[in-house]
Amino acid sequence: MKTILLNGSPKGNVQSSGSYFLAKAFASGMKEPCEIRSVYKEDRWELLQYVSQFERIIFFTPNYIHLIPARTLDFLYALPKGSEGQSLGFIIQSGYPESAESEIAGRFFKRFASRLQYGYLGTVVKGECAGLAIIPEKFGKLEKKFAEFGALYEERGFFDETYVRDFAKPYTISKPMALLLNMTNPIGNILGWHKIMKANGAYDNRRDRPYLRL
Ligand SMILES: Cc1cc2nc3c(=O)[nH]c(=O)nc-3n(C[C@H](O)[C@H](O)[C@H](O)COP(=O)(O)O)c2cc1C
Repeated sequence: MKTILLNGSPKGNVQSSGSYFLAKAFASGMKEPCEIRSVYKEDRWELLQYVSQFERIIFFTPNYIHLIPARTLDFLYALPKGSEGQSLGFIIQSGYPESAESEIAGRFFKRFASRLQYGYLGTVVKGECAGLAIIPEKFGKLEKKFAEFGALYEERGFFDETYVRDFAKPYTISKPMALLLNMTNPIGNILGWHKIMKANGAYDNRRDRPYLRL
């Protein structure tokens, strides 16, 4: 089985990429860990040519604005038609906890794979991952689960459904929880995001809407 893992985050294969964190964890469970390459940081045409030699191509990508980052989407569109035995798989991780948000991406990936005549390994949706980049040490349990998931994948050649279902929890959050989050959000903003924006000199621009400029 020849599998390649692609990191679809604009950050590339760095410690602060949640996608890279999960890809590394997935590969760490394997007897023969797969290679992890970066869609954003490598030459597009060389990488396209390189990945086309693999039987299975698995994208580890963040959800950016309810889908996947632009260059990763563009890379997908540039993939050649799949040949006999080739499959695509997807792991999409996001900041919001609910997997319902990324489910639509999964439906798109499934159709996309079929249109390009690839087999489809499935889509793993994992929410609540924004902290991976900031406090990775708090994600030991998730790291372990991805290592187990990777080990099973290497053994069987497909995504284990029990793990896929488990990663996707919660599908939505309950109304009381949504209420609580809405109430505590302003505190989180002040303690978290505002601090980061100030440290990067971006605080005064936080309400900018550049897309409205002509
Ligand atoms: C520009 C941008 C857009 C984002 N959009 C969403 C979004 O629409 N929904 C969501 O749940 N998370 C969103 N996030 C959070 C990321 O999905 C999350 O932080 C992820 O772990 C980042 O992965 P990475 O470190 O590999 O890039 C966004 C983050 C950024 C930077």
